[in-house]
Amino acid sequence: MSIQYKEGKEPLAQEHRLIFRNIDRSDWDPSMERALQDGYYEQMKKALTMEPKAITDEVKKSGLRGRGGAGFPTGVKWGFIPPNNTKPVYLICNCDESEPGTFKDRYIVHQDPHQLLEGMIISAFAVGAHVAYIYIREEFPAAAHIIEKAIAECHEKGFLGKNIQGSGFDLEIHIHRGAAAYICGEETGLIESLEGKRPYPRIKPPYFPAALGLYMAPTIVNNVESLCHVKHILEMGGDEYAKLGVARNTGTRILCVSGDVKKPGYFEVEVGKVTMRELLYDMCGGPKDGREFKAVIPGGSSSKILRCDETFKIGRGDDAKDLDFWDIQMDFDTLAACGSMAGSGGVIVLDDSRKISWVLNNINHFYAHESCGQCTPCREGNGWMKKVSDRIASGKGTPNDIDTLESIAYQIDGRTICAFGEASSWPVEAIIAKYRDELLAETSEANVVKSAEQLEREKFLQPV
Ligand SMILES: Cc1cc2nc3c(=O)[nH]c(=O)nc-3n(C[C@H](O)[C@H](O)[C@H](O)COP(=O)(O)O)c2cc1C
Ligand code: SF4
Repeated sequence: MSIQYKEGKEPLAQEHRLIFRNIDRSDWDPSMERALQDGYYEQMKKALTMEPKAITDEVKKSGLRGRGGAGFPTGVKWGFIPPNNTKPVYLICNCDESEPGTFKDRYIVHQDPHQLLEGMIISAFAVGAHVAYIYIREEFPAAAHIIEKAIAECHEKGFLGKNIQGSGFDLEIHIHRGAAAYICGEETGLIESLEGKRPYPRIKPPYFPAALGLYMAPTIVNNVESLCHVKHILEMGGDEYAKLGVARNTGTRILCVSGDVKKPGYFEVEVGKVTMRELLYDMCGGPKDGREFKAVIPGGSSSKILRCDETFKIGRGDDAKDLDFWDIQMDFDTLAACGSMAGSGGVIVLDDSRKISWVLNNINHFYAHESCGQCTPCREGNGWMKKVSDRIASGKGTPNDIDTLESIAYQIDGRTICAFGEASSWPVEAIIAKYRDELLAETSEANVVKSAEQLEREKFLQPV
C-alpha cells in the first residue's frame, strides 16, 4: 500500500526517502504505538543479538559520512575509541541544528522521534555507551517534550533502562536543553555546555571527543540525521546501503533549500544523484517570476558561495575536466572540488535582486554575534568585519574597505581554536574573490574620511 502524505507535502519523483519516509504522512504521529506498527525497533532487537564490532563494520561498509557538517565517515569515527579504554563511553546526539539555512533535524525530532531513538540505541550498543545524551537546541522546546515522551515510552517497552530486551545491555538516554548559541553545535563547545560550563570549544588535539570527550572520557558525537541512518544501514546491510548515492558519497541526505526559489523546502535525495540544475529548476520550480539566479551557498552559511555563471576545473591530471555550475552534483566531494562544501545540507539561493554587500553584511552580523570570544582573531576580527561590511552595505564604504575585509578574513582563517574561524572567514573570502567588482561599485573614494593633517597637506600640494 502506498504511503499517504498530507496535501502539498508529497515527496517529489527525484526524492529517495529513507529518513523522511514518515515525515508529513497523513496517517502518522510520533507515538510508540504508531512506530511499532511500522516495524520500528526491529533493527534494535537485531542489533542486540550482534557483536558490537559487527555493527560498526556495517556502518563502515555503508560509507556513511556525518550529516552534521564535516562529512566525516561515521564508522571510522566510532573506531577511534581507544581499544584499551577503561572509562565509560558516551554517545551524544547533536540536535543543536544551528547552522543558518539548515532545517532537517527539527522535523525528525518533532515528527519521528522513535527513528532517532532506535538509531541511538543501536549506535550506543555498537560503541559501548551506557549513557547517551540528546543535546537539543534551546529554541526547540516542543521537540524536547516530544522526545521526552518518546524516551518514557521506550522505558515502558523495555527498550531503555536495564537489561534491554534481556540482552544484558543497559542504556539511559537523557535530554539536555541547549544554551541557545551557535557555538553549542560545535562538538567540543557542546560537550563543555553539557558539562554545565560556557560552551568554549576545546583545542584539538588533544581533545578529540572520541578519545577525550565528555568528562574527559571517550565520546561519540553524531548529528541527528547521521544517527537515524544507522537504523537503515542495519536494515539494508552496509553493502546495499552503499549502493545508494555515488562513490564515496553514499546513502541519502536531506537538502534544505531556502531563499530565492519558487518552491523552497526539504528534499531527501540520493547523495550526488541530483545536480544543481535539477535541484533548483526541476525540484524547486526555478527562480521567482522576473528574476534570475545569481548565486548559491550550498552547505549552510559557512560554506563558500558559488556563482551561477561559474565553471570549475575539477579532478587532476588526465581526469581533470571543466564543470559548469549547473552540472554540480550535490555531494561532498564535488562541492569540495568546486571550492565549497556540502556541509549541513542547507542550500541558500540568491537571485539577482540581492545586493552582494547585503549578503556579506547579513553573514557577518551573524558570526560577529555568535563568536564565543575565546580567541582574539575570531572575537575581534568578526566584530571588525561586521563594522566594515556595515559601512559598505550602507553606502559609506571606501574602495580600501574591501582589501581591509579580505585581510581580516585571512587573519582569522586557520588561526583559531575551533572551525568557527573558517566558518566565519570563508564566506567573506569567497564573496570578495567572486564579487569584488560589485562590492567596489558600492564604495566611493568620496567616503574616505581624511584627517585635518591630511587635508592640510593636500591643500599645500595643490598646484597653484
Ligand atoms: C561552529 C560550528 C557549529 C556546528 N553546529 C552543528 C550543529 O548545529 N549540528 C551538528 O550536527 N553539527 C554541528 N557542527 C559539527 C559538529 O562539530 C560535529 O562535527 C558533528 O556534530 C558530528 O556529527 P556527524 O559526524 O554525524 O556529522 C558544528 C561545527 C562547527 C564548527
Ligand atoms: S574560533 Fe571563535 S568560536 Fe571558536 S573558540 Fe575561537 S573565539 Fe570561540
